[in-house]
Amino acid sequence: MKNLILIEHPLIKRDLSVLRSRSTPNHLFRTTLRRIATVMAFEVTRDLRLRATSVRTPLERTEGYVLKDDIVIVPVLRAGLGLVDGFLDFLPEARVGHVGLYRNEKTLEPVDYYSKFPRSLGRSMVLLLDPMLATGGSGAAAITFLKQKGATQIRFVTLLAAPQGVKKVVAAHPDVKVFSTVIDRTLNRKGYILPGLGDAGDRIFGTE
Ligand code: PRP
Ligand code: URA
Repeated sequence: MKNLILIEHPLIKRDLSVLRSRSTPNHLFRTTLRRIATVMAFEVTRDLRLRATSVRTPLERTEGYVLKDDIVIVPVLRAGLGLVDGFLDFLPEARVGHVGLYRNEKTLEPVDYYSKFPRSLGRSMVLLLDPMLATGGSGAAAITFLKQKGATQIRFVTLLAAPQGVKKVVAAHPDVKVFSTVIDRTLNRKGYILPGLGDAGDRIFGTE
């Protein structure tokens, strides 16, 4: 599917199995998710543009590089928070915005409750982070929200996606690239990804 980029890596496959396991405790879930995020950050930023600069080594002057684009990382609360530190490891200069959404348990429609973005949103590359893409309602709504706030360059980074969610986000936002490490089989009647890993927010924060 155009605009869907699958990040495949042996270390991610190993770590994803740890995250899927129901017997993984919260602290191990958090550290494993953070480690996966660093590998994802490496792939998601592979084609970032550079600006040439000059750098003085202890011996002589040579060419160096800085990132051309400002980067804004936007986790979808809560579960997106689990990916933030892994991305900041590679992008320490990034600013961080937040968007708070939860799914209404009956309708599965997203409900927004918080947002805060840096002023530079409109001229930045925005990396929207949410480990779970299920029905696609939250992802599509978060992207619409970012666009209303002025964002023009958006990449949506998720760990685990259902086919229904990918289809929805890609159809609603054909200008946005979606990165995931795996596309799972389907959704159950309550909108949970199968086989999935359960409720990501609950497993990160121990609220299950
Ligand atoms: C989860 C997840 C996504 C959303 C995905 O959040 O982090 O935001 O569900 O589902 P969707 O694609 O069907 O919209 P949740 O609503 O459980 O909130 P939480 O992170 O605060 O637990
Ligand atoms: N949100 C989650 O955290 N997990 C799912 O399987 C679906 C939505």
